[in-house]
Amino acid sequence: MEKTSINTIKELQIKQLIKEPNHPRKESGNLDSLLQSIKKDGIISPVTVVKVNENVYHVIDGYRRVEVAKKLGIETIYCIVFEGYDPATAAHQSFVLNNERAQLNEIEIALHIKKMKDTFGYSHTDLEIMGYGSKSSVSKKLNLLELPSKVQKMIVKGSLTKTHGENLLKLKDSKKIEKTAKLALSNDWSAKKTKSVVEKHNKKANQDKKSAQKIRVPKQEIPGVYFKDANDMSELPDESIGLIVTSPPYNVGMEFEKGVSFAEHLVNIEAVMAECSRVLVSGGTMGINVADILNFRGAAGKNTFSQIQPMAHIYQKMLRKHGVYLRDQIIWVKDSNPFTKDITVNYTEKTNHAEYRIVARHEPVLIFRKKGERSAPSEDIVLESKLTKEEWKMYAPSMWKIDRIRKFDGHPAMFPEELVSRLIKMYSYIGETVLDPFLGSGTTIKVARELGRDGVGYEKDTRYKETIMKKLGVAEKPLTEDVAAYSKKVLDELDANQPEKPEVEVMASEGMLETAEEIISDNQKELVTA
Ligand SMILES: C[S@@+](CC[C@H](N)C(=O)[O-])C[C@H]1O[C@@H](n2cnc3c(N)ncnc32)[C@H](O)[C@@H]1O
Repeated sequence: MEKTSINTIKELQIKQLIKEPNHPRKESGNLDSLLQSIKKDGIISPVTVVKVNENVYHVIDGYRRVEVAKKLGIETIYCIVFEGYDPATAAHQSFVLNNERAQLNEIEIALHIKKMKDTFGYSHTDLEIMGYGSKSSVSKKLNLLELPSKVQKMIVKGSLTKTHGENLLKLKDSKKIEKTAKLALSNDWSAKKTKSVVEKHNKKANQDKKSAQKIRVPKQEIPGVYFKDANDMSELPDESIGLIVTSPPYNVGMEFEKGVSFAEHLVNIEAVMAECSRVLVSGGTMGINVADILNFRGAAGKNTFSQIQPMAHIYQKMLRKHGVYLRDQIIWVKDSNPFTKDITVNYTEKTNHAEYRIVARHEPVLIFRKKGERSAPSEDIVLESKLTKEEWKMYAPSMWKIDRIRKFDGHPAMFPEELVSRLIKMYSYIGETVLDPFLGSGTTIKVARELGRDGVGYEKDTRYKETIMKKLGVAEKPLTEDVAAYSKKVLDELDANQPEKPEVEVMASEGMLETAEEIISDNQKELVTA
């Protein structure tokens, strides 16, 4: 920017004067009172001009006086004349002089700053140095030009302030901005009131957007239940599920997994885990209740003696590749009396010392978390969803004593409602959707709904339809004889699947079981080598 070289006072012809092309003041406004005053006292103070050539001078300050002089037929006027200004300096000086006298409205200021940037190439830092305000206030001023032109006019007229404008800009949608600006005007809203209206609107819009993303629980025969394989949950959009709570089949010979080899079991689980990872929100949790296989006799089930097949690392490996990581582990103590109804501990004269077996009375609940940031609903829902201190004291320790289900009414492997309830309360917000891809009897959906969440689930075995209907209150009728007989059969199977008696179990090194890596088919091999 060039500096002034000469600064003199001259009497110039009105016809020699034209408005500086980059003058920040766009309109002269009402000239009546100025006209009356000039008529009475004449033009007292000189206008400021920049010399372009002998016959042309640009008025950078005082152009309203020139206009009145023209109207009154005045032929000459005293001018402070600057020479040697480049256009950028003229524009800037014009701004400074007019702004000093608070003659510019906020839109004129914004337009001028835009001109300084776009036409003369000044950066925000340059503008800060030149006195246009801090870089962020320059940006704020420029942002006003994003307002619809009707709203800009309201600011020019002074019916709305720049703070109104800044608040309205948070609405994003220009139609909505115009509508709210009109309301602000007609109701005489302060900028603060306008801000609160805008914030309420945005909050509601966010909630609507979230509920639009949420899957609608289908109103089919059993609302929210899909009788199909969960390896395809295409009904559920990506990242539409707030929490997954489930207990997959363990591959321990339950009637719903009869004839399924260990390798097939892993293929089933892996496909469902991939879908779960897709539908879960970023930062969302999967609570998976899955026990180790206690009497594992190899992939073909033919080994002469059994060993434990741990499962947590297999799930970890399956989920890790989808960005879902094992974060915590809860030990569900499902029977605090280790000898209740126990058929495996026969402490008799035949029991060999140094060969005692541990009686399994617990199962792990693996807590996985998907990477990314967990989005939160409105503050009131967050507050309503939060655990109480008492709940936290009960849930945070890693051991949960919760009695197992003793009466399997229509499904052989139900988990207790209390277990599901704790997971839902800990890891989901009220109003979110909780998914169970291995629905079984429908426990997860039932508890989710009782806790003010939506519940959806997949079950591929339609034999459990009536049980699910009963649990979810879709049909009130009692189990049919068929189902009752079936339940008994299932209980018998369960008994048969209890761990073996200690005295017949020999953990000898001779003939030791194949390792998990060996028993699983080649393409599953890597799953067990976490
Ligand atoms: C351990 S049970 C779940 C019991 C459930 N937690 C309850 O409280 O009733 C596992 C269930 O998953 C079902 N299942 C197994 N593989 C499945 C798959 N790929 N898709 C859907 N359901 C499946 C089985 O039929 C079985 O009912």
